[in-house]
Amino acid sequence: MLVTGKSLLEHAQAHNYAVGAFNVNNMEIVQAIIEAAEELNAPVILQASQGGIKYAGIEYIASLGLLAAKNAKVPVALHLDHGTDFDEVIKCIRHGFSSVMIDGSRFALEENIEFSKKIVEIAHAVGVSVEAELGKIGGTEDHITVSDADATFTDPAEAKYFVEKTGVDSLAIAVGTAHGVYKGEPKLDFDRIEEIRNTIDVPLVLHGSSGVPYDALRKAVSLGICKINIDTDVRASFAKAVKEHLNLHPEEIDPRKILGPARELMKETVKEKIRVFGSDGKSWL
Ligand code: 13P
Repeated sequence: MLVTGKSLLEHAQAHNYAVGAFNVNNMEIVQAIIEAAEELNAPVILQASQGGIKYAGIEYIASLGLLAAKNAKVPVALHLDHGTDFDEVIKCIRHGFSSVMIDGSRFALEENIEFSKKIVEIAHAVGVSVEAELGKIGGTEDHITVSDADATFTDPAEAKYFVEKTGVDSLAIAVGTAHGVYKGEPKLDFDRIEEIRNTIDVPLVLHGSSGVPYDALRKAVSLGICKINIDTDVRASFAKAVKEHLNLHPEEIDPRKILGPARELMKETVKEKIRVFGSDGKSWL
């Protein structure tokens, strides 16, 4: 069933777990995520970045996501990940996304507020939820790269001001994670998560969660993280399964035989994450 991002995150916040938000670019990834969520009876978020939308086309991504969500036996939100462009965000709302992320983290505080607030007014008028980002999360997610030097942690007092001014439904915070593959082990600033949690009420979002040790993710959830974003680890499973299959069967040309095992491995990866986030068994349908 298609639901808003807000309803998913409020349920997660009330029941002390995090909803997994997995990036999608094609049919196999969508099916892997939905099958995993249904097998574990877990609410889940399908999210497409602007890069994913550019690759597949908005009609394809929206149709795939909405079909999957509407037919799913668990609550599913279709979410735009890192919307940096006003027109792109509006396009997703028009195509039926039930949640959007507006990423104004490249702006100074007041500009970020102005940019995010404009989207909040439009999205809320048509029942769509809004996530925003404060602080700068490092690493590369599709078209956005933030160098280590530019990455800045979220300030709790600024977060309070930002949420009050914009009216966003959830907030992505920068607390030591980064998009993409980690060079060393990421160190999360747990005190900062706790301080932000004690300062603002809206559900908190953790980006760059692939490669983060599971005990750190569990602790982040216990401190108030309600949505956890995963892209890289699902990509890695996709590539691993395709490579393994083609190494064993170099003569294979049937896309179903090449992509079928990738779909299975991605599903196992998503299931593993769902269990770590504690969202298994949390579907209310
Ligand atoms: P990873 O690259 O760690 O999977 O992060 C994905 C993400 O945060 C998407 O917004």
